[in-house]
This record gives sequence, structure tokens and C-alpha cells, in this order.
Amino acid sequence: MKWQILGAGAIGCLFASHLAKQKHRVSLLTKIKQLNQAVQLTELTGHQLQFKMDALTEIQHDADVLLVCLKAFQVLPAFNVLHRQIPSSLNIVLMHNGMGTLAPLQQLLPKQRIFCATTTHGALLTAKFNVRHTGVGNTILGGQRQDKAVGQAIACELDQALSNSSWSDNIQEKLWLKLAINCAINPLTAIHQIKNGELLQPQFRPMLTQICQEFCQVASLQGLALTPETLLEQVQQVAQATAANFSSMNRDIYHGRPNENEAILGYLLQCAQQHHINLPLCQQLYQQVQRLSV
Ligand code: PAF
Repeated sequence: MKWQILGAGAIGCLFASHLAKQKHRVSLLTKIKQLNQAVQLTELTGHQLQFKMDALTEIQHDADVLLVCLKAFQVLPAFNVLHRQIPSSLNIVLMHNGMGTLAPLQQLLPKQRIFCATTTHGALLTAKFNVRHTGVGNTILGGQRQDKAVGQAIACELDQALSNSSWSDNIQEKLWLKLAINCAINPLTAIHQIKNGELLQPQFRPMLTQICQEFCQVASLQGLALTPETLLEQVQQVAQATAANFSSMNRDIYHGRPNENEAILGYLLQCAQQHHINLPLCQQLYQQVQRLSV
């Protein structure tokens, strides 16, 4: 397959370099054209590799997959510019924290095959086009039932590139689980400017418990079988596994960049409102993050 990666941040460079390592044809889709752009990967072992790939300003007409690694709030503005040059054969894979981009994108591109993916691989951009793989995770991809064969082929290539990638028949459930983890970890680590592991301290336990309870009220009405207890366990596992890392929202607030509050807590609160449910702590955290946002 021929891949094009939109979004040369940590996750975009992580996938681009691993796909290139497996000799897949990969290019980047960037604002500035640069043929033979070097992308540097530092593997978990510390081993460094460099891959040359074209950074193009247009979608390649023969690309099979456009892997979109933008932040949620960048997705629609990007496609409003790109949508006229997207060939009908192009498979789009959305991979970002938070939710809420799929429905408007489907409206903009009603005939396009669009998949959603979520990853727990850890990556850090140490400089432009320089990525460090900081933690092994997994990647799950899913979409419409009629697109399963294509989706499985995409997941298979991703799996060869970065282990633990697979197709899911129930991607919504996986996206909601990731949303829950982001609702619990990102706002608190951003507001208190702490590393993920610090959330395991006893003073955060009541807040994490309440976030999980509030989240499950909405999730159950969305048809998801999640309990606050199992959710809290999963949140704690992720906080433990990524203990030394700063969450993405923590870094965005720290560097004064736009953040994903709208796609994470904002999305949850919007769903809650549709079900006429009040989520007092999530609402309070959402407002606190809004006040810290640029
Ligand atoms: O947004 C992030 O930083 C990550 O999704 C996660 C899982 C919270 C780990 O830091």
C-alpha cells in the first residue's frame, strides 16, 4: 500500500518511520514541500535510524491510505482545504485523542471510506521530524462493517510496522474507552502540571473515582458496558504504564498551545447534555482547562 501521513507530530512521525522501516512507500503531507525529508526515529533501545521521505503539499493521487495524525481540532479545518483533491479510492484513517470529528467528516466526504484508529504507543517529538518511541502500546482500527476487508489489510500493514495493531468490529467501544482514559488523565495532569504517574497519589483518588462514575453514566446511555470500578482500574494502569510521561494536554497547556479539551471533556459533556445528565466534576474540570487555554 502507498501511505501518506498528515500531521508530522510525534505519532505521525512514529508511524511514518516505522512504515518506512518496513519498506512501505510513505510520504508526508505537510504545509511546506521538502523532497527527501529526513525523519529520525529513536527506538526504545536508544538505537537511532533515519528515513528519507518526501514531504508534499498535495495528496498523492495514487495513495491508498491517508493516515491523519492531526489533533482533533485541526482535522476539519485541514479537510475543508483538502477535500476537493481527495480521490474516491483513498482510505482515510483518523487517529487522534478525543472524539467528534468523524460525523462532520463523513458529511463533507459522504462517499469516502473513513476509518478510526486509536493507539497507546508512546512517542515524543524531540525536534521537528525527530521522534522517540517512548512506550510500546497497541493500535486498534475499525470502521463500517462493509469496509472490514480493506480495514483489516490496513491494520495488517500497521501491525507489520508497529506491533500490536489490529482490526476491531467494535471501534466505538475502543474509542470510548480511550476517551475515558483521556477524560481522567489529561485534565488533571494539565491543571496540576504533573506527570501521569503522580495521579496515583492518594489525594487524586476521589477525583478519579468521580470522573469514572460520571463518565459511566453517559457511556451506559450510549450502550457501552463499562463499570466505574473497571474504568478506574484501567485509568490507573495507564497512569502507571506512562508514569514518567507528561500527558499531551499537560504539554499543550505548558507550551501555550491549543489543546484537546473540546474533543475530550467537551465531547463527553455534549453527550451528557443530550441525555439531560449533569456531570459536575467533569464540567468543573472542563472550565478550569478552558481558563488555562490560549
Ligand atoms: O493524551 C495522552 O497523553 C495519552 O493519550 C495518554 C494515554 C493520556 C497518556 O499520556
